[in-house]
Amino acid sequence: MAGYCTELSPEAGAIGAVNVVQFLSEEVRGHNTDVIGVRETLREQKFAMRGKRCLILGAGGAAAAVGYVLGEGGAGSVVFRNRDTAKARALAGALGKLFRRTEFVVGVGVEDGLDDFDLYVNATPTGMKGFPVSLPVSMKKKRGALAFDLVYRPAKTAFLARAKRSGLASVGGLDMLIWQAIGTWEIWFGRVSSRNRLKSALKRHLTKIL
Ligand SMILES: NC(=O)c1ccc[n+]([C@@H]2O[C@H](COP(=O)([O-])OP(=O)(O)OC[C@H]3O[C@@H](n4cnc5c(N)ncnc54)[C@H](OP(=O)(O)O)[C@@H]3O)[C@@H](O)[C@H]2O)c1
Repeated sequence: MAGYCTELSPEAGAIGAVNVVQFLSEEVRGHNTDVIGVRETLREQKFAMRGKRCLILGAGGAAAAVGYVLGEGGAGSVVFRNRDTAKARALAGALGKLFRRTEFVVGVGVEDGLDDFDLYVNATPTGMKGFPVSLPVSMKKKRGALAFDLVYRPAKTAFLARAKRSGLASVGGLDMLIWQAIGTWEIWFGRVSSRNRLKSALKRHLTKIL
C-alpha cells in the first residue's frame, strides 16, 4: 500500500508498511497503526522499556512495529527469533540504523541461552485459531517482566499460559487491536476526548463476541 501514498508517517516509512491511508486535499498519507497499538498497550501495562532486554518471536510487519516502539523507548536489546533468519537479520539491521541506543540482534533458539528477558513478545500467528500451536519459548520469572501475545483469538493462548506458569505478567492482542482502531479513528476524524473510557467499553464488548 505504501506505493500508493505520496507521503508516509515516520513510523510507516521506517517499517516500510502501511495499514491505514489518509486522503488529504493534496496528499495521500500512509500510516502504520500497529505501532500505535503496541505503544499504547505497553504504556497501559506500565512496561518501562529503557535499557530492557526484549525477545520478539517473528520478523514480519507486526514484529517490526514492536521493534520500532522498543527502539523509540530506548530498550537495551531486542532479539528477533524467526524461522527465516535472513529476514530477521534484515529487520534487526534496519532498526539498528534507526535507533542507535538499542542493540538489535538475531536469536537462533531457546538453546542460545538468551532466555533472561524483561519482555517476551509473540508476533507470529502461532496460537491463533486455525494456526499451529504457540512456539516454544522458555520464560523466567523476573521482576517487572511481561509477556505480550499479539494474537487476540483465542484470548488465552499457550504462550500466555506459559507466562502465567512462569509467574510473569501478561497481555493478549486484544488491547493492541483496540488501540490501533482508536488510533485509526483519530487519524481520520481527530482526537477522541475520553480514550481510556472508549477503550474499556470496546474491550468489554469485544471480549463477549470474539
Ligand atoms: N493484536 C493486533 O492488533 C495485531 C496486529 C497485527 C498482527 N497481529 C498478530 O501478529 C501476527 C503476525 O502479523 P504480521 O503482520 O507480522 O504477519 P507477517 O508479516 O506475515 O509475519 C508473520 C511472521 O510470523 C512467522 N510465522 C508465520 N507462521 C509461522 C509458524 N507456523 N511458525 C513460526 N513462525 C511463523 C513468519 O515467519 P517467516 O518469516 O519465517 O515466514 C513471520 O515472521 C498476526 O498473525 C496476528 O496474529 C496482531
